[in-house]
Order: sequence, then C-alpha cells, then structure tokens
Amino acid sequence: MTANELRRAFIDFFVDRHGHKEIPGASLVPENDPTVLFTTAGMHPLVPFLMGEKHPSGTKLVNVQKCLRTDDIDKVGDTTHLTFFEMLGNWSLGDYFKEGAIKMSYEFLTEVLRLPADRLCVSCFAGDSDAPRDEEAVRVWKSIGFRKHKRGEPAGTGQIYLFGKKENWWGPAGQTGPCGPDTEMFYDTGVDKCPGCDENGPSCDCGKYVEVWNDVFMEYNKKEDGTYGPLSQKNVDTGMGFERTLAILQDKETLFETELFRDAIEKINELGVMHDMIATRIIADHLRAAVFLLADPARIKPSNLDQGYVLRRLIRRAIRQGKKIGIDKPFTHEIASVFIETYKDAYPDLDKLRSDILNDLSEEEEKFSQTLERGLREFDKAVAGELTGLNAFRLYETYGFPVEMSLDLAKEKNIPVKKNLKRAFEELFKKHQDQSRAGAEGKFSGGLADHSGEVRKLHTATHLLHKALRMVLGDHVEQRGSNITGERLRFDFNYPDKMTPEQIAEVEKIVNKQIAADLPISCEEMSVEKAKDAGAIGLFECKYGDIVKIYTMGDFSKEICGGPHAKSTGELKSFKIKKEQSSSAGIRRVKAVVGV
Ligand code: SER
Repeated sequence: MTANELRRAFIDFFVDRHGHKEIPGASLVPENDPTVLFTTAGMHPLVPFLMGEKHPSGTKLVNVQKCLRTDDIDKVGDTTHLTFFEMLGNWSLGDYFKEGAIKMSYEFLTEVLRLPADRLCVSCFAGDSDAPRDEEAVRVWKSIGFRKHKRGEPAGTGQIYLFGKKENWWGPAGQTGPCGPDTEMFYDTGVDKCPGCDENGPSCDCGKYVEVWNDVFMEYNKKEDGTYGPLSQKNVDTGMGFERTLAILQDKETLFETELFRDAIEKINELGVMHDMIATRIIADHLRAAVFLLADPARIKPSNLDQGYVLRRLIRRAIRQGKKIGIDKPFTHEIASVFIETYKDAYPDLDKLRSDILNDLSEEEEKFSQTLERGLREFDKAVAGELTGLNAFRLYETYGFPVEMSLDLAKEKNIPVKKNLKRAFEELFKKHQDQSRAGAEGKFSGGLADHSGEVRKLHTATHLLHKALRMVLGDHVEQRGSNITGERLRFDFNYPDKMTPEQIAEVEKIVNKQIAADLPISCEEMSVEKAKDAGAIGLFECKYGDIVKIYTMGDFSKEICGGPHAKSTGELKSFKIKKEQSSSAGIRRVKAVVGV
C-alpha cells in the first residue's frame, strides 16, 4: 500500500463502512490555544467539540492531522523519532464508545490493512486513584479473541496487558481539558525478543513491538486544581501513526525507507561527501517539518519567537548537519523541493506555495551561513572548557546558534555541559526577549478547553476587531493568526505598515460602539459556499469541513468560527488595544483586552 492509498483507505473505511464525515486537518498552530505552540495530536483542534460544543459535521468524524512534537527532538536520527508526522484519526463526539471504537480499529487493522491477527497484542488502563481499571475495554478485546496476559508469563501476541497512566492514559493536550484511559494496539515486527521484552511486554522500547494505534476514551476533564471530573459527553479520540503504519505495511525496517523519505534521503546522500545515517535522517526530518511549517496557513517564518523560533532551530540544525556530512553549498531548497514533490498530491498547498517555501529557506540559510562558519571556528574558545547557559546564550546572540546546536557540538567534542544549562539559557533568552516564550512553557491557563466567561468575551472581541480592522485599513485585511489567554486576545493580520495612533483609535471606537449597542449574537450552521455567499469572513481553508458555524453579531459582523462566544456584545463592556507591533514580514499583531 502506498502512502496516498493508506490515507485514502483510512478515510474511506470510516466514511463508507461506518458513516463518519471526513473533516480537513487543521493548522499546525492551534488557533486560540496559548497552552501549546503546535498541534501535537489530532485531538487538539477538536477540543471544544470534545468538551460539548456541537460540531457542524456531526458526531462521527475522521481525518488526517499534521502534527509536530519537539519534546523528542534530541532523539531524531534513530529509527523511529520524528518531529513532524501525520496522524490518522476517527472521532466519536458523544456517539459510539469503547465497544464501537475497538471493534472498528480491529476490523481496519485486520480486514483493510490485512495485518495478521496473530501479530497483534493490546494494552488497557490498569486503574489508579483517579480512575478505575478499564474493564469494559478488556471485555471487548476478550470478545474479539484476546486473552489477559498473566503475570510472569512470557510476552506474546494475542494478549491484553494492563498498564498505568504513563502508558495507557492520554491527555489533556494542554494543562487542562479532555482526557481518559486508552487502549493501544501493537504490532509484533517479528524480530527476536530483547532481554526486557518478557518483563515489559509491548511497552518494551527495543523495537520488537510497534504501537500502531491508540484509542482514547475521553470521558474525563482534568481541571486546573489537578483533579479529574466527568466530561459532559463520552468521546473517542483515536490516533494511528501514519509513517509507522506505512513502514509496517511496506515491510520496511524504518520509516525512512518508505517513499515519504526515500527521494529526500537519496538527494542528501548525493549532495553529501560523508555517509552519516544519523545526520541524514536529522536533515530529512527537520527540513520536512520546516516545509510543512512554512506552508501552514499560520504562515510561520523563522524568527526568535515561539513557533518561528522552533522553525529556525529546525532549519539551522539541518544546515549544521549538512555541513557535517560535507555539503558545502546552500542545499535546503533542494531537499525541500524533493519533499514538495513527494507530498504535493496529498497536500496541494505545498505546490502552490513552492516558491515562498524555497525562498524562505534560502533566506534563512543565507543568514545563518554568514555566521555559522565563524561560530564553529570560535566555538571552543567561546565555551572555554565548559558549555554554560551564559556562553550558550552568547553563541546564540553572536552566531545565531540555537542552544540545542551548541549542546550537540559540546557532545561531539566531549566538552562538559553545566547542569541546568537549558534553564539558565532560557532565563537569559527571556530577559533579552521581553516577549517570553510562555507558550512553550505552558504558563498560560485558558485555551480552547477554557470556556470561562473571559475567553468567550475575548473570542467575541476578536470578531469585532477583525471587522473593524477591515473597515479602517481595507477589505484585503485578513486574519493570519489568533491566540486568546484568559487575560487578552492577540490577533495577527496581513498589513504592510505600522498602524497610526489615529487608526488604532478609530478601530477602538468602532468596536466600542458595537459593544455599547449590545448586539445580539447568534450562531447558524451552513455550507462553506452559503457562508461565503452570505458575506461571512474568516479562515475558510483548513476548517471544520463542508458545514461551518457562522456567528452573527447584529448587522455588524458575520464570521466563521467554532465558538464559544458571549450572548451579546454588551457583555464585553469595553475594548482597548494594548499593543500594535510587527509579527513578521507583512504581518501586524494587535493585543487587546476587554472589560477594563
Ligand atoms: N490523542 C491520542 C494520541 O495522540 C490519540 O489520537 O495518541
């Protein structure tokens, strides 16, 4: 099965055989959720619906979601770790639950993918003081023919294992929100057992057992005080690792041998002088992630802030690895071109944005190349025997070395690293950069799981602001990003110039006038086409499917959005812009508050 066939088979199975609606994948940058920088799992964009908001496409959904995780960036280069990956997922929003989900998963694995049933084993939640053992999931697996693994018995397929929270509990994706026990399905690759396999069963990470799918039963809500309460509805969130599954189906030892990576790796080998598999995989992984970030509707550009900083790190790390294997000319655009070819059928945006992606990469590569060489020469002198937060920060400031790169270099050169270096670096970075990377540290509360009054009001204020900006600056102004904490809203939009104080005052005046008018807010569901005809604004691409929700505020604003919102604009009391600044080339950023 090819990559394109696997995506299709998954969607068709749930749509045709089991009555699900296909929804598009969302942006790699979660909208309105400041608790994380990236979409790390398919459930992320669906949080409001897992919390009980009605989804316009119904209660049974299926999609392919692009995800990015940077926690394991240091491990990229081995056979399994990736930063960017795709996740295949089916969803029940208060519809079917454990029995339905498990039976469908099993049917897909054995009937559509034709994985031999005797190569599978599963795990379920063992229970703890927060939630009981998942007897129901165990019962369903038994009814299919699996049996409980007995303590002390050798690990084997056909067995059901019980593990604690670390293995068999998922979520919340941020600090709070939907979560629950899960059941995981593993494929036995057929390689010999390692000494730990019998003791650890499928949770052994030697590579014998590969987790292919995770069905999460989201029936709990983790609250801010750390306790778990019931969710208003019982949901299913499943995630199948796309790249891994593809490698299994194609009988490849690693996912780097599938067609997703094959051509890019060949190109890297062709450009490099030395053969270094780890460096090659890092380059491939990081540039693939960079391509998808640059093509994302959130329009991420390399920068020193938040998502842009992660993108910069990925590109710079790849460039350094390129140098290591002897590539002595700009090369990121060449590898990116290969990835665009590989992925353009599944992701036509890559092709459309080809020249932007390649230009952005080349620009960043040029910027970095100017200092890289010198930085590498000066590295030993700069660290003087020990890498510390301070000299790592200086390397960053002077030569643009991301801290992870200095750590890599120290490791290669056997230079000791000071304890807590990363923390010290972050502190200096933060001090220097008054815009802290709070998102990365998950410091904010709020996010989509936060349906508090404040968040509702700020959502509503965002619509009023969007419309007012278009009235003052022109109709070509469009949302490029939005982020709401419990305290403020942040709104990015395309506009080439700094706003004048008069323009800011005018926008505030317009918004406050709508607040004073206490406009009623209503919500309607309609097709994308109808919404466009009705003059609704908002991000139409990458949204919730064919049917969208439109929020109307009096005669003033009509915008597509997932909610939640205030009942009427009067609830906002007042609106004030606190800051207007540049976000990246051609994009302005406004921060504003309500009720002050
Ligand atoms: N959220 C779960 C995971 O990421 C299932 O989709 O594994």
